[in-house]
Amino acid sequence: MGLLIEKNVSLAEHTTLKVGGAADYLVEVRTVEELVEGLRFAQQTATLPLIIGSGSNILVSDAGYHGLVIKNLITGVIYDTSDQDKVLLTCGAGEQLDTVIADTVARGYWGLENLSAIPGTIGATPIQNVGAYGVEVSSLITSVEAVQADTLEVKKFTNAECQFGYRDSFFKTPLGKKWAVTKVTFNLSKKISPQLEYKDLISLKEIKNISSMQIRNEVINIRSKKFPDWHRVGTAGSFFKNPIIKNEVYEKLKVEWPDLPGYPASETETKVALGWVLDKVCNLKGFCRDGVCLYEQQALVLVNIGSQSAEAIIKFENFVIDEVNKKTGIAIEPEVLHV
Ligand code: EPU
Repeated sequence: MGLLIEKNVSLAEHTTLKVGGAADYLVEVRTVEELVEGLRFAQQTATLPLIIGSGSNILVSDAGYHGLVIKNLITGVIYDTSDQDKVLLTCGAGEQLDTVIADTVARGYWGLENLSAIPGTIGATPIQNVGAYGVEVSSLITSVEAVQADTLEVKKFTNAECQFGYRDSFFKTPLGKKWAVTKVTFNLSKKISPQLEYKDLISLKEIKNISSMQIRNEVINIRSKKFPDWHRVGTAGSFFKNPIIKNEVYEKLKVEWPDLPGYPASETETKVALGWVLDKVCNLKGFCRDGVCLYEQQALVLVNIGSQSAEAIIKFENFVIDEVNKKTGIAIEPEVLHV
């Protein structure tokens, strides 16, 4: 059966920020073969196809997308448990990350539990190098399978080939954007291996014989207090990246704001908690304009409570960028991908 390619589809319903114009075409794909068929169709359009998952980390402009949007719903979850200590978990790109995590902890495996309750699909995890509570997927991914949009070549990328960085990877580069992720393989552990160094989780170190399920439950609990319910309000989690600045610049800022949280990013650089800056330095926690706000429980999270347009969000974004720059001299960047 041929693919059902819809025309002129509003993307607002396909993103969690709930704004954005129409795509010329949209297709949902559930298998690699369907994806390839979609990529073939896209070759007849003027632009590269836009591959989306749950749309939980993108801001689509009011102009929409002139080309084909492919909603990646490729399924499949395979566990290779043959090793004594390790488990190799291979998932289709369209699987929901949190559903997969729930299953891994129910089986008693370790690795993904700190990433619980993050909205989004498996396919997005290597692109953004999704991370939370001291764990980034780059420490777990062994390979990523993808198809090249122009040549339809299929390739398995090793971890090194993914070129992971903080919320960054090869798949965000101009060349990398041509690859559509189909499968991701994670290296999980059968052995107890809690990762509890992140400030919010340190108290769990006191629990004897802790399970990955207990960590998952605590992460869900913490997140429920810091993040809005994305079923009710428009949001895409952290809207900006935590800026990475030179150690000297950080030390200078500490003179004025001694409590400014910072974490070593390299020998010479510090990653600064932008949520703290927006809250304590810029006083923008809970600030709203034109139906767009910085969330009252976590200033790094932008919420769309009433705007119908991407323009209002972009205006708000630029206002925040300017405020941070004026107060601290730091140039911040969005974490959410702009389309
Ligand atoms: N803080 C404030 N006020 C605020 C927000 C934060 O003072 O309004 C302070 C916190 O008290 C803490 C520090 O800032 O000392 C950092 O805050 P938090 O632990 O909440 O983490 P974050 O740096 O704001 C990052 C990720 C999140 C991830 C959390 C937990 C980025 C851009 N964001 O947020 O990822 O869930 O750590 O690990 O790196 C996402 O990428 O969409 C995302 C939600």
